[in-house]
Amino acid sequence: MAKEVNIRKVAVVGCGFVGSTSAYTLMQSSLFSEMVLIDADKARAEGEALDIKHGLPFAKPMNIYAGDYSDIADAAIIVITAGAAQKPGETRLDLVKKNSAIMKSIIGEIKKQDCQGILLVVSNPVDVLTNVALKASGFPENRVIGSGTVLDSARLKYRLGEHLSVDSRSVHAFIVGEHGDSEIAVWSSANVSGIAVDDFCEMRGHINHDKNMRAIAEQVKNSAYEIIEKKKATYYGIGMAVKRICEAIVRDEKSILPVSSMIHGIYGIDDVVLSMPAIVGKDGVETLVPISMSSDEVEKLKDSAKTLKEVLEQTK
Ligand code: NAD
Ligand code: LAC
Repeated sequence: MAKEVNIRKVAVVGCGFVGSTSAYTLMQSSLFSEMVLIDADKARAEGEALDIKHGLPFAKPMNIYAGDYSDIADAAIIVITAGAAQKPGETRLDLVKKNSAIMKSIIGEIKKQDCQGILLVVSNPVDVLTNVALKASGFPENRVIGSGTVLDSARLKYRLGEHLSVDSRSVHAFIVGEHGDSEIAVWSSANVSGIAVDDFCEMRGHINHDKNMRAIAEQVKNSAYEIIEKKKATYYGIGMAVKRICEAIVRDEKSILPVSSMIHGIYGIDDVVLSMPAIVGKDGVETLVPISMSSDEVEKLKDSAKTLKEVLEQTK
């Protein structure tokens, strides 16, 4: 019989840059009282668990340990960050063959445990691997989520906040579609606390909206390439994004987050995993929020879906 879910327990599979940073961020969040770390390199997981534990006297009590798959049976959320990361010059989609094989082997282990928790996929290409995880696990669609464009949307909010000299938390703007080169910034619904972004730009003395917005979207899309070129990997931003998604789930917040999940019939897109804003709570994705988009944005979203479907074929 399946073990009952412990809402205070999280598992992190893959303890490299992204897994260890996510674990560190989760430790500081006080969301969980138990965290198990798993890595193909057991010593790595043990080392990270020890290092993170030494911060506990400055945080809240929590049981943190390196374990194996039998430890995840009752985890509320299983964060998967295992797999190869991009090297300078590589795209996320270049990782698909290697990482889909790793994902399938991890899901095989998870399935043996009869878990009732939520899978949160972070490994790249995240949309394709979330699809692989969904199919391989047989879990219901609401319980298999990718971090999707939560990070990209944060990058967009950050850059817009900087451009407009306003708190990025007052910026409401989404990146949708692939977490990657075909992603789409949805300018048509972007606003700053209810004021259309173009109007807010004018208020702040900026003209040339089209040129500026195109430049900002390009910068956001390319930010991972820039960071990887400079420091080999990205991990702080995604660590915060993982924490934010876990928070929405554990606290049943029903927050609207652009996680990646299975799409059925939005803007004519079907049977593909990509990011659209979704209501996220204790059951994972409760429902999608198909925000209004211009016809140009919809066309780009369809192209993004097509790209993802083609790449998914390579995993079969
Ligand atoms: P890393 O090389 O530092 O860590 C990967 C870890 O996975 C290693 O510790 C490795 O031992 C482990 N691993 C490999 N195969 C495994 C298996 N079968 N079972 C358990 N563990 C296994 O890489 P990283 O920088 O931490 O990146 C990890 C992944 O996250 C990459 O695919 C990267 O592209 C992705 N990533 C995604 C986002 C996002 O926004 N979705 C952001 C940053 C990185
Ligand atoms: C990111 C990773 C590389 O930072 O997907 O966007």
